[in-house]
Amino acid sequence: MTTTPVSLHELTRRPRRRFGTLTSEVHPLSRLQAALADSGHRVPNLWIKRDDRVGLAGGGNKARKLEFLVGDALARGATALVTSGAVQSNHARQTAAAAAASGLACTLVLQRKLSRDVEYDACGNVFLDELLGARIVSVAADEDLSDAVHRAVASLEEQGHRPYVVPVGGSNATGSLGYVECAHEIVASGVPVDRVVLATGSSGTHAGLLSGFTALDSDISVLGFCVYRDAEATREAVTALSAETLAQLTDRRIDPSTVAVDDLSLGPGYGVPTTEMLEAVRLVAQTEGVLLDPVYTGKAMAGLLRWIREGRFSEQENVLFLHTGGIPGLFAYRTAFS
Ligand SMILES: Cc1ncc(COP(=O)(O)O)c(C=O)c1O
Repeated sequence: MTTTPVSLHELTRRPRRRFGTLTSEVHPLSRLQAALADSGHRVPNLWIKRDDRVGLAGGGNKARKLEFLVGDALARGATALVTSGAVQSNHARQTAAAAAASGLACTLVLQRKLSRDVEYDACGNVFLDELLGARIVSVAADEDLSDAVHRAVASLEEQGHRPYVVPVGGSNATGSLGYVECAHEIVASGVPVDRVVLATGSSGTHAGLLSGFTALDSDISVLGFCVYRDAEATREAVTALSAETLAQLTDRRIDPSTVAVDDLSLGPGYGVPTTEMLEAVRLVAQTEGVLLDPVYTGKAMAGLLRWIREGRFSEQENVLFLHTGGIPGLFAYRTAFS
């Protein structure tokens, strides 16, 4: 007998602002798989799920989270969104698009942690943020980001707005619901998936998927390649957010031993290019015609390639790479590729 999982009922009850059809295509990465097999590696069946193509202004994983976050903001009578992140935050760009599409004002508090070049400072996501009508507040690397967010909220209130703060990366128990739904989508797609591989930053995508698979009693495992913090801090963040997300849906509990993360592809730090990332972005572009980004999916693919080269998968395993987007960031990293 098939029963509708309790968590799906919970999702349909939540306030939600729809941003189009978010269901994303899954297709095999056959040419990449063949190229790796030709180099003598034991290669699993490789698939990709194209969340880079869904939703808001250039695509990416934040649209799924923002449907629940903006739904909550509108239900509370908000008139403005405020969020924060790095200069080239994809989350900020998609929040600006969500605000524009919902008739809300938007302030983005962007911290300059990396000193790169004029393309990093003015192209890619920042250019799109401005185009989407967001107000940008720049914060120096040594300033406190949450103080700057408080000031942005106060300034909007003085102007008569009712601001709603979207957390960094859209990662809280409301935003993660978007990826609980994605877990349902993967299970319902009928594609044989044993493991989902993704970039783990602020953790909401990873936590949402893990909560969704746990709520569904699915055997699909999740492996996150760290792009923001080291393995220990990432594991803690994913475990805590998964527990919080799952608690809204069911009385099942996350088994901490199922939180799998690897930080060997992070390199010197968040947003800093690595040789492995450059190779991964080029290889996927040139075998599959698929663009990855330099900060998230490029490093996650570098991690996946390393696992394959180390023989860590069986040929029978079906590995689904979640493409979480970020392509506008490529235009801010041109010099890293030259
Ligand atoms: C393109 C892209 N991929 C992956 C991530 C990581 O997702 P999360 O922050 O939910 O871990 C982000 C977050 O900003 C992103 O922009």
